[in-house]
Amino acid sequence: MAPVLVAPSVLAADFSHLADEIARAEKSGADWLHLDIMDGHFVDNISFGPAFVAAVRKQTQLPLDVHLMIEHADHYVPRFVEAGANSITVHVEPEAKHEVASTLGLIRAAGCGVGLTLNPATPFSAIEPYLATIDLLLVMTVHPGFGGQAFRPEMMEKVSRAKAWRDSRGAKLHIEVDGGINAETAKLSIANGANVLVAGTSVFRAQDYRAAINALRGDSNLT
Ligand code: DX5
Ligand code: ZN
Repeated sequence: MAPVLVAPSVLAADFSHLADEIARAEKSGADWLHLDIMDGHFVDNISFGPAFVAAVRKQTQLPLDVHLMIEHADHYVPRFVEAGANSITVHVEPEAKHEVASTLGLIRAAGCGVGLTLNPATPFSAIEPYLATIDLLLVMTVHPGFGGQAFRPEMMEKVSRAKAWRDSRGAKLHIEVDGGINAETAKLSIANGANVLVAGTSVFRAQDYRAAINALRGDSNLT
């Protein structure tokens, strides 16, 4: 089984102590940092943009996993590449207003990991045509826009289908879950085939980041 990677979502960090928060997450065993970009159009919230990603880049060597919840991602991809993204994930829904295959090609050409994601209401069939062209499938386990929402267990069917696809081809696809991930929902996600866990609240609002990250991996005895 692929090792489980934990990607704390900086959205839940204390932005007034950003450098400390990043250092703490890195020292506590985070594998990647997840950066949620929201434009107030595709989702009903505004988070941060390329300048913020560049500031995070200066503070860490960890891979930066950029999740674009924005319209016209193709227009903005070069700015996030320039800011230091290692992987860039875009949405498949028509409301994201881009030509999905061509945006995925742009990300690939820039040398970044290529990610695709789907909202809870979007069927698995929407991403199926792209599976062979991506490195990472992000299964949203909440409706995107805000941290701190409850996990939707019914999304596990999409995770299982992605795992079945990966296993049948012997493909190297990361299967990532995002939204409401805590020790309990992480366990369920891993059991269904996820190998990358995005977690905002359960890491950055914990007293002990290391214990929180270990608990997500299922290593609750490690400190
Ligand atoms: C939701 C974002 C998530 C969010 C997760 O729109 O894509 O990455 O930060 O936050 P938690 O872990 O608090 O649900
Ligand atoms: Zn996200």
